[in-house]
Amino acid sequence: MTKATGKLYGLGIGPGDPELITLKAYRILQSVPVIAYPAMENGKVLARAIVADYLRPEQIEIPMPLPFSPTRSSQPYYDLAAEKIAAHLSEGKDVAVLCEGEPFLYGSFMYLFNRLSARFTTEVVPGISSTMASAAALGVPLTYRNDVLSIMPATLDAEVLRDRLAVVDAAVIIKLGRHFAKVRDVLIELGQFERALYIERATMPNQRIRAIADVDPAEVPYWALIVIPSQQKSVS
Ligand SMILES: C[S@@+](CC[C@H](N)C(=O)[O-])C[C@H]1O[C@@H](n2cnc3c(N)ncnc32)[C@H](O)[C@@H]1O
Repeated sequence: MTKATGKLYGLGIGPGDPELITLKAYRILQSVPVIAYPAMENGKVLARAIVADYLRPEQIEIPMPLPFSPTRSSQPYYDLAAEKIAAHLSEGKDVAVLCEGEPFLYGSFMYLFNRLSARFTTEVVPGISSTMASAAALGVPLTYRNDVLSIMPATLDAEVLRDRLAVVDAAVIIKLGRHFAKVRDVLIELGQFERALYIERATMPNQRIRAIADVDPAEVPYWALIVIPSQQKSVS
């Protein structure tokens, strides 16, 4: 008789506040024997920190080192992580991969999904994205009626950002970090700078909301984004 394999979960755990996790993610998190999570090479592990209070000591943990560097490919790291996860799944153990925010929105889980979902039963549990949580934290409605919302990474070239942002009703620009100055200059050029709102580490204990004009580009962390809310003020 062949042994049953385990199930792979992509677990959306929300933007940072441990209470912004779904009941389903919480239940799965507590029941699986193995958890895996992205870890920066310097050892920082945000996803694990978000759910640290919910973990059990007997759970097996697989930290997945990722380079988080523009000059080094993450793909060999995902190959390695997928192998480690596959070994547990093959032994019949369920594995939950922790994903900050929503797994299928710019989430690193997607690279494991691509490698493993054809071989193992996989379930993605959606999470509250930082893009939604940031609008709530900033207290700004994102979209009314026929508004179109665009979510884009700050890593795009300035010309592409300019073309995209020129036509948005509302937008969220993620992956800011060292790209902040480029985005700021494009927003100024397009006359959208006054509308733009800046937030760091939304819903985390060290959340910071700053007037965008006061932001020092040298100090913008990776966990920061810009919201350009709807220009409509009210709907009758
Ligand atoms: C690789 S994307 C992952 C997005 C995630 N899957 C989500 O749904 O929120 C990482 C980017 O999301 C944004 N981000 C994630 N969490 C954040 C938070 N709590 N506050 C502000 N920005 C955040 C940052 O712009 C960061 O560079």
